[in-house]
Amino acid sequence: MKSSDELHQELRKGILRLPRVTERQHAGIHEDAFFVGSTMFMHIHGRGHCDIRLSKADQKQVLAADKAKRHRWAPQAGYVTSIVKSEADLDRTMELIQMSHQHFANKRDVLPAEQANGNNHGQLHLKLFVIGATGRTGQEIVQQALARGHHVTAFVRSPENIRLKNDRLTVLKGNAMDENELRDAMQNHDAVVSALGPRKVFKPSSMLHDSALATARAMNRAGVKRLVVLSAAAHFPGIPNRVASFIMRNHMRDSLAMEEIVQSNGLDWTIARPPRLTQEDYSTYRSREGAAPKMGFTVSRKAVAAFMLDAIEQKKHVRKIVGIAK
Ligand SMILES: NC(=O)c1ccc[n+]([C@@H]2O[C@H](COP(=O)([O-])OP(=O)(O)OC[C@H]3O[C@@H](n4cnc5c(N)ncnc54)[C@H](OP(=O)(O)O)[C@@H]3O)[C@@H](O)[C@H]2O)c1
Repeated sequence: MKSSDELHQELRKGILRLPRVTERQHAGIHEDAFFVGSTMFMHIHGRGHCDIRLSKADQKQVLAADKAKRHRWAPQAGYVTSIVKSEADLDRTMELIQMSHQHFANKRDVLPAEQANGNNHGQLHLKLFVIGATGRTGQEIVQQALARGHHVTAFVRSPENIRLKNDRLTVLKGNAMDENELRDAMQNHDAVVSALGPRKVFKPSSMLHDSALATARAMNRAGVKRLVVLSAAAHFPGIPNRVASFIMRNHMRDSLAMEEIVQSNGLDWTIARPPRLTQEDYSTYRSREGAAPKMGFTVSRKAVAAFMLDAIEQKKHVRKIVGIAK
């Protein structure tokens, strides 16, 4: 009988034999992601736990025939789960993977693999400047950006809190409220991503506003146009949000002031407004410009990071406030 490692390697080889498939290993978490063009059609957690994305019709049929399990977090995105513990499981799972591959390979919006990491300027990789890179969302942004092939500069106050090592990762110590330090550090970057957040949400602070002001001015001086920042869904109108806004009114005031700065400095900005952030293990999301997605009460930090990177890579949601949710 084959070991789980042998089964894993066989599975990977089988997937990589499919036309136009590329693999990206997520740094730091045990996950192999497989893409056809720019679309991730499946990923493997650890050894043998395969999450495979199908068309809605295929998903329905596969679940009805009991050929796979319902995915725990993102069944609405078409995902099913298939666990490989034996050679028989391997054949059954490869059948599902082929089904998924066929569906996504035929989609018109799938870019050729060589463009998948590109910024649509024919440039292969982006140079991203990440503020708040030691935070829980910031770490996800760094990991996923590296996994997507980008170069990352993590601009942090405590470099010792970045344990990740990667040839494409530069860690710079600096003050996120200092325009001159930011300007010097962000020269020649394609985009700035900020996942800053106060460590003490109930304490009055102008940290987000001050950092946004320094960042926007630094970007204008350094000639960097694209900015994606993290805000909060509580700014959308609605009763539950109003309650949350009151409880965290100091933080909300600061984050709204940050949004105003971001919008008024001539940059190509996107403001991501998620609801409650979780540490769940999925990176798909729903997004809606100018409003919160319906019935979206939480979203994982992984999904927020994926949204922010997608917005940059695909040049989407420029000068828009976007609600995101699970
Ligand atoms: N938590 C939620 O449910 C929720 C919901 C909606 C929106 N959000 C928003 O999402 C954002 C990020 O959340 P998160 O949970 O990923 O945050 P987090 O884990 O608390 O990370 C916060 C980041 O901001 C940095 N930071 C804080 N104060 C700083 C300062 N004075 N100077 C420089 N860096 C500073 C931290 O650096 P150090 O590591 O050095 O401290 C860290 O990198 C927050 O702005 C929050 O408003 C959160």
